[in-house]
Amino acid sequence: MKKTITVIPGDGIGQEVVAGALQVLEVIAKKFIHTFEYKKALAGGSALDATGIPLPEETLTYCKQSDAVLLGAVGGPKWDSNPQHLKPERALLGLRKELGLYANIRPAKIYSALVDASALKKEVVNGVDIIVVRELTGGLYFGKPSGFEKRNGEEVGFNTMIYSESEVRRIAKSAFEIARKRKKKVCSVDKANVLETSQLWRRVVIETAKDFSDIELSHMYVDNCSMQLIRNPKQFDVIVTENLFGDILSDEAAMLTGSIGMLASASLGGNVAMYEPVHGSAPDIAGQNKANPIATIASIAMMLKYSFNLSAESDAIENAIEKVLSKGFRTGDIYTEGTTLLGTKEIATKIVEFI
Ligand code: IPM
Ligand code: MG
Repeated sequence: MKKTITVIPGDGIGQEVVAGALQVLEVIAKKFIHTFEYKKALAGGSALDATGIPLPEETLTYCKQSDAVLLGAVGGPKWDSNPQHLKPERALLGLRKELGLYANIRPAKIYSALVDASALKKEVVNGVDIIVVRELTGGLYFGKPSGFEKRNGEEVGFNTMIYSESEVRRIAKSAFEIARKRKKKVCSVDKANVLETSQLWRRVVIETAKDFSDIELSHMYVDNCSMQLIRNPKQFDVIVTENLFGDILSDEAAMLTGSIGMLASASLGGNVAMYEPVHGSAPDIAGQNKANPIATIASIAMMLKYSFNLSAESDAIENAIEKVLSKGFRTGDIYTEGTTLLGTKEIATKIVEFI
């Protein structure tokens, strides 16, 4: 199989974790006889420095012409005080919107070797296997109007939380379809006791569920969900929720597994899907060979499965990650006493060896 992948390392640790992930992809190519061609592209802070804008047209064109997109991370203190349209994060939002990636799939599965790295008790986290399906192109992140203006003599900032029926229907469908291949449970998370968008959300999710009678649907308010994720995370299979709630809950779900450095994601819905770790650019450890590349490597596994239908290849990566962890190799974020501390490059190389 021959595929073209647009690679956007981005900023901070993005560079290092993407390098590790490509090393893994190359060994997959060799072992299973595929050809992956890479087109490097700029987005985020590195694009700002090189071109003056966070998401150059050329990057978008590359993405649209390729079979999948791999992104590291964007952002950093250097650009934090930039005006809104010149923030690195705009690149990410622009890519999601322009590529039509409305369904963000964020699995939070605990590796048994890592139960001790979680901040929660073993009994609570052992066996956790959740997928957060986050709506990614609507809600508060994109609702208009938004901005700043003067009202009654003082400055205000405002955003709009808005969802249309069709936006809710398609993400609900995605969640039900994913649940069908799992434990067939969907929990829709909203704030329907307060917000109109959530009331519409709940109504449309219930309507959509009529075509999925094999799925057990429940509803939960977002504040309760954030509590339940800590109290009893094993009650969840698939969680579907709007953009901002999903942003917050997926970080929380990530921490159940020990480290956000472990969590992969896929953004689907358009012609080309994008794969990225859930974590950010971690400027505090950038360039020090300390970052955990596993989230990005696991994102490659998702790419192989979701975009290229290469299950055996995807499983080979997942299994190698499991083995490396069960042999006690760790990066700093998941290090516990008695395990072996490795750098970004070294742990990626270990995964390559196990493949
Ligand atoms: C994420 C990140 C992004 C988001 C930021 C970097 C714009 O937190 O992918 O979860 O809020 O969506
Ligand atoms: Mg986030």
